[in-house]
Amino acid sequence: MAGNEAVAARWRRIPFLRWSFWRLMFGIRRLTTEWQVGDGREARLAEYVVAHARRGDSADVIRVIDEYGYNESFLINVGDEKGRILDAALAAARPARVLELGTYCGYSALRMAQAAPAARIVSIEFNADNAAIARRILEHAGVADRVTVVVGTLGDGGNTVETLRNAHGFCAGALDFVFIDHAKEAYLPDLQLILQMGWLRRGAVVVADNILFPGAPEYRTWMKLQEGRPWRTVEHEAHVEYQSVIPDIVMVSTYGAVDGVR
Ligand SMILES: C[S@@+](CC[C@H](N)C(=O)[O-])C[C@H]1O[C@@H](n2cnc3c(N)ncnc32)[C@H](O)[C@@H]1O
Repeated sequence: MAGNEAVAARWRRIPFLRWSFWRLMFGIRRLTTEWQVGDGREARLAEYVVAHARRGDSADVIRVIDEYGYNESFLINVGDEKGRILDAALAAARPARVLELGTYCGYSALRMAQAAPAARIVSIEFNADNAAIARRILEHAGVADRVTVVVGTLGDGGNTVETLRNAHGFCAGALDFVFIDHAKEAYLPDLQLILQMGWLRRGAVVVADNILFPGAPEYRTWMKLQEGRPWRTVEHEAHVEYQSVIPDIVMVSTYGAVDGVR
């Protein structure tokens, strides 16, 4: 990287110097209700990926999305730094069936498809526009046959649970891996619903993003209380996506890692 470019890249990692970060923060209320920033950046991402990433090359699509997140508009993907923690958890778990809560534009679903090449992934997203963007990107990356985006939410009183059961074969012990990255207040109730359904197999891994920022304190406290009975959790320190200033934590929790679980 040439000197000037290296300096520019370092400056782009300071979020407070980027208009696209402030635009996102000003629209935070809308972002946490409608789940798009409101300036069209998510739709533009799909155009950018199709224009700049090699078709059928998932690594190149991931590279181009990160490039967009750093150089064009800040995005709420898990991002490259925390994404590597997710990749490592998948490589260790080698899951066959993965559930994601919170698709957004499909970045983490794509990373998971790449890190777990044998996995079938179902990703739940309640914003239909985000789901359409994600499907377009996943199709461009060539993983649409292994990654299904379901429009819905586990908290809708049973509809999405029924879809997962009837159309995707979710049954007792069927899930090897869950990535939780949706509304922060839904982390704990949705995990508890998954447990109630008995979907997690012994040894399944649950990864949760944004534990510090915006923060999922109830989930973190609950997991701490479950330590050793039957969960085992490792907290990974990192930063909020696409910058290097605001700290964040990714929790990687293994279910039934000790005796005493069904
Ligand atoms: C932080 S983004 C997900 C980022 C994505 N996992 C990635 O790393 O590329 C959160 C997404 O969750 C969706 N969402 C929020 N609450 C939800 C819920 N209760 N059920 C399903 N999706 C939800 C939002 O619409 C948004 O697209």
